[in-house]
Amino acid sequence: MLPKTYRKLIATTFSNNFRAASEIVEVELKPPTGHEITIRNHYAGVNATDVNISAGLYTPGATPPLDLGAELVGEVVAVGEKVTDYKVGDTVISTAIGGYAEYVTVRSRFVIPVPEATPQVLALVASGVTAALGLNTVGEMRTGETVLVTAAAGGTGQFAVQLAKLAGNTVIGTCGSDEKAERLTSLGCDRVINYKREDVGAVLKAEYPQGINLVYESVGGSLFDTCVENLAVRGRLVIIGYISEYMSQPELVTRPRIYRILLSKSASLRSMFLLHFIRQVPEELVKLIDLYQSGKLKAEVDPTPFQGVEQAADAVEYLHTGKSAGKVVVKFA
Ligand SMILES: NC(=O)c1ccc[n+]([C@@H]2O[C@H](COP(=O)([O-])OP(=O)(O)OC[C@H]3O[C@@H](n4cnc5c(N)ncnc54)[C@H](OP(=O)(O)O)[C@@H]3O)[C@@H](O)[C@H]2O)c1
Repeated sequence: MLPKTYRKLIATTFSNNFRAASEIVEVELKPPTGHEITIRNHYAGVNATDVNISAGLYTPGATPPLDLGAELVGEVVAVGEKVTDYKVGDTVISTAIGGYAEYVTVRSRFVIPVPEATPQVLALVASGVTAALGLNTVGEMRTGETVLVTAAAGGTGQFAVQLAKLAGNTVIGTCGSDEKAERLTSLGCDRVINYKREDVGAVLKAEYPQGINLVYESVGGSLFDTCVENLAVRGRLVIIGYISEYMSQPELVTRPRIYRILLSKSASLRSMFLLHFIRQVPEELVKLIDLYQSGKLKAEVDPTPFQGVEQAADAVEYLHTGKSAGKVVVKFA
């Protein structure tokens, strides 16, 4: 029996101040029709980019209100009359915008079946699949390379570290605390650089004089510059994000154009945004679930508890403090 109403978080104005942009509303829960299914949310994934969604960056031309949240895992509670591929009780992930809601109704082709509605499995999607595609498809990762992962203890960084290691590479990870450094060592990092204690550029120059073959870069700002400067001949840097500028105006920089550095090493910059690879997500997810279930891949979840729509903004702000490690989630059911 579906409830008559449910609560969700919407942006009533566009701002990268997630809390200021958002409001909880209670709306009617209409039964699904046709190819739609209704999912009861168990866990919503918190992503650095939630502040870009609330700023309207992913919905050009749209005006508020806009549903907030980027992903959830939950249980199918009702299906439309044309749905044949899902039944009530199935566990699924939705990566449609609108994850911070007690229920969502979406067309069944926009969800992915998963074996369990756990935060670990949720972490494998936007965070894990981004790492897999960023390293392999875009970064053309090989074996025997030196791979550098920034924000390495975070939601997506943790998977990049492990996948690079599983592929037989030397892995360097950057992070901002000793606790995270310990976790990264246990995840297989060969060299952890706590950038609050060591100068990343100096370490790379001294310990990796041949340069870095592949960089999975999520932070931006001066760390991005350092990574570019330390690429190896034919090195690749994959831009995954630039969290250091999500809450501020872009930093204006004046320096010689970047082609001077790149051409002298035949190095390249690439970038990868998951929405542009959405058709590959189910196939990549199956591979990651296999690795996770066989114990070869860990999916670490930050233990700080956040519950329901009321605490979604707290969770987003917590992720942006830089203190979280692993995937941050908000529990719903
Ligand atoms: N391209 C895509 O499709 C895609 C998909 C998923 C995520 N991403 C990107 O990947 C990055 C990480 O996202 P996530 O959701 O997995 O977050 P996260 O890594 O779990 O959390 C953010 C981490 O970034 C690090 N950080 C470094 N400088 C920071 C700063 N100035 N402010 C705040 N944090 C800073 C912090 O760790 P340390 O201080 O320990 O380094 C912090 O814990 C973001 O840039 C995000 O946009 C992109």
